[in-house]
Amino acid sequence: MGQGTGVEQERAGGRVVLVTGGSRGVGRAIVHAMAAYGHRVAFCYRNDAQSAGECARETQDRYGVEPLVLQADVTSDDARKSLVDTVHRSLGGPDILVNNSGTTEDGVAIRMKEAWDRVVDLDLTAPFRLAQLSIRHMMSAGWGRVITVGSIAARLGFPGQVNYTAAKAGVEGMTRSLAQEYGRRGITVNTVSPGFVETDLTRDVGELARSYVEQYSALGRCVSAESVAATVAFLASEAAWAITGQTINVDGGLVKL
Ligand SMILES: NC(=O)c1ccc[n+]([C@@H]2O[C@H](COP(=O)([O-])OP(=O)(O)OC[C@H]3O[C@@H](n4cnc5c(N)ncnc54)[C@H](OP(=O)(O)O)[C@@H]3O)[C@@H](O)[C@H]2O)c1
Repeated sequence: MGQGTGVEQERAGGRVVLVTGGSRGVGRAIVHAMAAYGHRVAFCYRNDAQSAGECARETQDRYGVEPLVLQADVTSDDARKSLVDTVHRSLGGPDILVNNSGTTEDGVAIRMKEAWDRVVDLDLTAPFRLAQLSIRHMMSAGWGRVITVGSIAARLGFPGQVNYTAAKAGVEGMTRSLAQEYGRRGITVNTVSPGFVETDLTRDVGELARSYVEQYSALGRCVSAESVAATVAFLASEAAWAITGQTINVDGGLVKL
């Protein structure tokens, strides 16, 4: 596809975007950024209908875009299929898939049992299955973007997070392979890996993580959900047509290699 300059071009028409876990935290900022680009946005949440409603109202008030809000547990095969089918029937596409839903469930590695499967199911298997379902539509359109929210944990390997670290490292591998497999169909595939963002997910480790970031990152401060979202929105744009198979760290310079 073309070599456009970015925001203006997207505003002209807009693509259909599906954001998983768009109701809160990083996902909500991604929904807003996509709406700001003029895309038609669908997002899902798992339980918290109130946050989903808030996100939808904010998106409408700020950007004049009414998102399609869907409840779906993306660890379920049936729910994933119904999610992508509903977006396709209602809006078309999806042209852009943003795999954002994710969780942590920390523990000592040698004692970890079901928490391994739960985290790998949500953070790695769900993004892959949703990519499979969405890429079919992108191939028909001859254009697509798959963007998965990873984590710098994949590079740094935090103790107590073997499940999360392995799943997010898997996302980076999935990204490289899908990029090679579907590049000639007009589809780019990338990972955006945040550093520490203050959200509900990180509430328990807040102070510890903040002081680590302040001490060791180049910028000496935490990153915002908006800075992650802006990177996702750029990678989804026409202007980013030449970037594929990459992992972009949005971490204030915490990862040095
Ligand atoms: N925060 C950070 O510092 C940080 C750092 C690196 C990477 N990340 C990554 O960024 C992404 C978003 O993190 P966050 O901090 O914004 O998380 P968050 O505040 O906990 O929000 C998680 C979102 O995912 C949804 N979700 C959870 N389980 C789901 C499921 N089974 N099916 C569908 N949706 C589900 C939640 O919906 P409900 O509200 O309905 O539960 C919510 O919308 C994750 O992939 C995370 O690993 C975050």
